[in-house]
Amino acid sequence: MARGNRPKVTIIGAGMVGGAVAQWLALQDYADIVLVDIVEGMPQGKALDLMEAGPVLGFDTRVTGTNSYEETAGSDLVVITSGIARKPGMSRDDLLKTNMGIVRSVTKQVAAGSPNAVILVVSNPLDAMCHVAFAQAGFPRERVIGMAGVLDSARFSTFIAEALDVSVEDVSAFVLGGHGDTMVPLSRFSTVSGIPLPELLPAEQIRAIETRTANGGAEIVGLLKTGSAYTAPGASVVAMVDSILLDKRRILPSSVLLKGEYGIDGLYVGVPVVLGAGGMKKIVELDLMAAEQAALNKSAGAVKELVEAMDRIDAEAAAAQ
Ligand code: APR
Repeated sequence: MARGNRPKVTIIGAGMVGGAVAQWLALQDYADIVLVDIVEGMPQGKALDLMEAGPVLGFDTRVTGTNSYEETAGSDLVVITSGIARKPGMSRDDLLKTNMGIVRSVTKQVAAGSPNAVILVVSNPLDAMCHVAFAQAGFPRERVIGMAGVLDSARFSTFIAEALDVSVEDVSAFVLGGHGDTMVPLSRFSTVSGIPLPELLPAEQIRAIETRTANGGAEIVGLLKTGSAYTAPGASVVAMVDSILLDKRRILPSSVLLKGEYGIDGLYVGVPVVLGAGGMKKIVELDLMAAEQAALNKSAGAVKELVEAMDRIDAEAAAAQ
């Protein structure tokens, strides 16, 4: 696409995931990017470095790095990756408290200047951070969406292709539910060139792959030791950005606020969603088997616990004032 009138994508948090989103999106060559971080010079440095790859790889994406929100005004889409990763010894509530503060503050600042943007949340714990961004932005649920399922299904696809020794291109793997250990892989809806997975692999092997997928994030952390995954997360965000900004209307597993769909009300949970212009076009509802519904309910229960923990943290902070 020619320069001059490109959609504007703001990425908040120019760390590992934010940087990867910027790189993959720059290569797509249809949007301009604003990278925001609190660390002085870092987003500016990453932006310049990325722009300088343009002549080599042939993209005209403009990338701006900044520590303020002026340049983000009028964004079509905002990706929130700011936050801290859980460090050894840190309680889940400590992480929750820190990241909810960060996500709340950045959402407030970015939503003011970009009232029509679609917000994609990446910060963890993902489904809880979606609640924070949704409440703070005051946007309709169609425009506040979490990225988790695309990454989980990409991991699932990787392991399926590996087990069958076939191309990943033909694998379509489906997951429901929350990010991490409450994820619900749906093997009967996962296919290779249209062939249902249970026709291709023994149940035991499928179960092993499902378990590896659910622990996919921890597996990378165990190997990297000093950080968590960012390349595949960045690519997964860009698949969602493409579907929204190019109005592709792909059906992608995304964390959205359910209002009765799948029998769940008022919680962000990962379900199949049509993503197009303006964000969520539609939630695709499936008839689940009893065990699948139970797993999804369990996943929603874990999100509810986090939401209640955040309410507690807020009540304690208010009482301390
Ligand atoms: N405003 C802007 N940027 C912030 C803020 C803030 N208030 N607070 C922190 N940041 C920035 C940090 O300076 C850092 O550069 O967010 C960035 C986070 O980057 P990394 O520490 O590299 O973390 P990353 O691996 O990218 O993960 C980011 O995504 O997958 C999730 O669990 C992960 O919540 C984490 C997030």
